[in-house]
Amino acid sequence: MDAKEIKTQIDLDNLPLHIAIIMDGNGRWAKKKGKLRIFGHENGVKSVRETVEAAAELGIKYLTLYAFSTENWNRPKVEIKALMRLLVGALNNETKTLNNNNIRLSAIGDLKSLESGVYKQLMTTINKTADNTRMTLTLALSYSSRWEIVNATKKIADMVKRNEMSINEISQDTFRSNLETSEFPDPELLIRTSGEYRISNFLLWQIAYAELYFTSKLWPDFRKEDLYMAIIDYQNRERRFGKTSEQIYND
Ligand code: IPE
Ligand code: IPE
Ligand code: MG
Repeated sequence: MDAKEIKTQIDLDNLPLHIAIIMDGNGRWAKKKGKLRIFGHENGVKSVRETVEAAAELGIKYLTLYAFSTENWNRPKVEIKALMRLLVGALNNETKTLNNNNIRLSAIGDLKSLESGVYKQLMTTINKTADNTRMTLTLALSYSSRWEIVNATKKIADMVKRNEMSINEISQDTFRSNLETSEFPDPELLIRTSGEYRISNFLLWQIAYAELYFTSKLWPDFRKEDLYMAIIDYQNRERRFGKTSEQIYND
């Protein structure tokens, strides 16, 4: 079956509002081809483009991509440099396409830890696409969920200290509104490529009830039909949120 045929199986009335993706496997993809890891990252950009296009065409409102984790700072300097160069290049090249397609760029993570040239390009693209309304594309950069949770805790503690809030008033909503993702709904679907079955410090709070989808495809091989298949799989799940199947069926 080709991508078009697979797409027809998607129920457009039951789309996830928010899809998050852990894009993994670039290095192994390159290694299999006898190339340097960077080659894998370069080819991963193509998959990002396809995925963004497919999501926007379907009518997905939020797409969040894990592009660089806090822990990724521990990689070899040359690899980090290449990744940042690719990021700046892609942002620069794609700003126009994002605008043509009415897609807003956003970013979560410790953005201030990015090198100033990277930060500037990121802010330029975010500002230039700020009025777009079709879909919000969020890049997680220098992001890790434990960093985010500690950060939220500090902000809440500060409000209590300044007597703007009492300890008893701290609720799940207080917490949610102090996370990096405060303006987005939680993802209903989380996809991870490359056959790894782990979360790697991504959106721990937000995926409490997300459906998880794992594929052995390496990220540079990920195409529109892979996104479609993940969505179809999601649509065949029964999301119970703690209730019984009968309760869900009768609702
Ligand atoms: C994902 O691919 C990209 C980033 C984490 C930046 P990897 O670079 O992790 O590729 P593998 O997992 O080593 O194959
Ligand atoms: C997760 O991939 C982070 C990103 C996709 C940016 P990693 O390749 O860093 O994850 P681990 O180290 O295999 O858990
Ligand atoms: Mg990896």
